[in-house]
Amino acid sequence: MNITVVGSGYVGLVTGACIAEMGNTVYCVDVDKTKIDNLKQGILPIYEPGLEEIVTDNHQSGRLHFTTSLSEAVEQSEVFFIAVGTPPGEDGSADLRYVLEVANQIGDMLTAPAIVVNKSTVPVGTADLVRAAVAARLEARGVDIEFSVVSNPEFLKEGAAVNDFMHPDRIVIGADNEHARQVMSALYAPFIRNRPRTMFMGIRDAEMTKYAANAMLATKISFMNEIASLCERLDVDVENVRLGIGSDERIGYHFIYAGCGYGGSCFPKDVKALINIAHQNDFEPKLLQAVESRNDQQKHSLFNKLSTHFNGDLSGRTFAVWGLAFKPGTDDMREAPSVVLINSLINAGAKVRAYDPVARETARREFPESWFTDGRLQIVEGQYEAAIDADALCLVTEWKPFRRPDFRALKKLLNTPLIIDGRNQYDREQVKREGFSYYGIGRQPVQA
Ligand code: UDX
Repeated sequence: MNITVVGSGYVGLVTGACIAEMGNTVYCVDVDKTKIDNLKQGILPIYEPGLEEIVTDNHQSGRLHFTTSLSEAVEQSEVFFIAVGTPPGEDGSADLRYVLEVANQIGDMLTAPAIVVNKSTVPVGTADLVRAAVAARLEARGVDIEFSVVSNPEFLKEGAAVNDFMHPDRIVIGADNEHARQVMSALYAPFIRNRPRTMFMGIRDAEMTKYAANAMLATKISFMNEIASLCERLDVDVENVRLGIGSDERIGYHFIYAGCGYGGSCFPKDVKALINIAHQNDFEPKLLQAVESRNDQQKHSLFNKLSTHFNGDLSGRTFAVWGLAFKPGTDDMREAPSVVLINSLINAGAKVRAYDPVARETARREFPESWFTDGRLQIVEGQYEAAIDADALCLVTEWKPFRRPDFRALKKLLNTPLIIDGRNQYDREQVKREGFSYYGIGRQPVQA
């Protein structure tokens, strides 16, 4: 098949590369010329395990094309994926400007029957807007070309995106006609050869499925974070509670880790957007609002623990931060708890020395230049280097090399033997034996 994917971000690039990997010809279109030029040379805009390899292979073998010109792709393609950003507007609603602009362009250029697929996460009803936009442009051209609009939300996780796409646990296709269902089935068939996992449903059902999935996962996390706060007050260890409840199959072990808050490009944005959708439909989404506010509060938990420990005065102190990415396996820092922590520490007059295995470049772009030049914030090249003369070590992202550190070496390097563990990675008894004071999430602190 010949496919066009508009938007070469996380979702678009992974979709394009994985579909090309299955033998299709794919045009990846993006307005960002630098991004496209780089991709042609094998330089990727994001870090994602396994992606570089399939992008390079498929580009070299002529199945994966990169272009800034939709018109170059349009004549060749029967399926158009829209995978451009839907950033939150000021009120939290998903900004559909880019999605609709792509729909307009498709309408301006289409020469043969096509299927337009919404891959971006978009509010219920967006497919109707896309259909109207394409139809209006076709009409303005005075041409009559058949096209369908399909909602095919993406459930890939950053850091595992290629694997998720190659081995999906479900493919949701919202379509209103048999032809579109057949084309989409044929496209995805190579990915689900062992077990059929395609779910066909109405277009609006598919749009809602994506929001509901992310909101459910965010709710599990915020719920656990709330339980964790109670555990701290009741001398209970949330880690035992997690194991105790996770063993119930109805609850399950996934996404019930208490921590310093969820981040990333999806959960915060999608929960906000769903709240906005509710408001637009005269509905008060009390649970979703609580999920969001619980998470905002949770991102301050590490700072609050430090502040309590040092009696409210952190000025002049230096803190080591391990982990900047919003989760392991990515260099993405969007909505990361590390950003909230570092901002709070620096605003409180402290200095920060931070390390992340892959997000160091992202971090250099994230914070004001002056913080680096006057030494308030240093991004260092090694995890132990971050700890030198620091008054505490804060674990924010649970990258594997942070899980079993050399506590003896750490203790020698730190000014104060204090660990603030935002992901409950360490054994309380062990850190106590090693002579550290320790604060986790949802468990009793240990005093050295
Ligand atoms: C998520 C969804 O998982 C994916 O299906 C959707 O398509 C996009 O949004 P992603 O943003 O890549 O994917 O991250 P995910 O792995 O889901 O983690 C989100 C955040 O939740 C991270 O900050 C993580 O640290 C946090 N988290 C996760 C917890 O705090 N506790 C948990 O138990 C699980």
